[in-house]
Amino acid sequence: MDRQLLSAIAHRDHPIAAPVSAANLDRLLRRAALPEGARVLDLGCGEGEWSLRALELVPSSVADGVDISPHAVSAAERSAAARGLSDRLSLHVTSAAEFSATEPYDLVICLGSTHAFGGLTETMDAAAKFVRPGGLALVGEGFWDRPPAPEIAEAFGAYPDLAGTVTTAESGGWLTVYGHVSDLAEWDEYEWSWTGTLARWSADNPGPDGEQALAVMREHREMWLNGYRGVLGFVSLLLRRV
Ligand SMILES: C[S@@+](CC[C@H](N)C(=O)[O-])C[C@H]1O[C@@H](n2cnc3c(N)ncnc32)[C@H](O)[C@@H]1O
Repeated sequence: MDRQLLSAIAHRDHPIAAPVSAANLDRLLRRAALPEGARVLDLGCGEGEWSLRALELVPSSVADGVDISPHAVSAAERSAAARGLSDRLSLHVTSAAEFSATEPYDLVICLGSTHAFGGLTETMDAAAKFVRPGGLALVGEGFWDRPPAPEIAEAFGAYPDLAGTVTTAESGGWLTVYGHVSDLAEWDEYEWSWTGTLARWSADNPGPDGEQALAVMREHREMWLNGYRGVLGFVSLLLRRV
């Protein structure tokens, strides 16, 4: 089983693939105050929850969702159909770095997907190419809330702290106009959903695939409970192009 399919299974009970609650997703999008007819671009859209909610909040808006995982995009397609949003959401199975557009966007979303561009700086540069003058970016990124153990730092890479993350996000001509730091309850809900859904799936699917899913779940849970719980932070920043 490939990792994209495992990830799709793990996210079935928490389609927002980030430690953010539905209520806080809503709050962040409302703060964007999108205009009628808004154009939204969601890079690394996963199952499309951010775009879908933006479309529900502004019924004349349209969105493009881009993701490299066909499993995630299929899930986004199904959700869009179930919510009556298919005609306003265009989905693209491709690498975010390969995506191009002819018209600018009012809002560029990249939540938990900055690795698609190689980091936060590169993501903000990419967003700058897509957004209209004075438009917005909504970017979610990890940061070290407390100093990590060396093996955890090595596994996740060189995140700065919260202040450093804001500085990096703004450095290429952006200004933070709102932000949300995920709390421990949001993290726990995300991680219990991820690990629990995979555990249940492995029990329901005995055999090599089930064993692989269980091994991935155990490794992930070990790193979470004995490593990054309460150490790794996650911030969602709403930034305006200046
Ligand atoms: C942590 S998930 C976040 C998904 C979504 N933004 C959300 O918050 O629900 C990261 C997503 O990035 C996608 N991804 C990873 N590398 C990518 C790339 N090079 N281009 C496009 N998407 C990519 C993954 O398939 C995954 O769906």
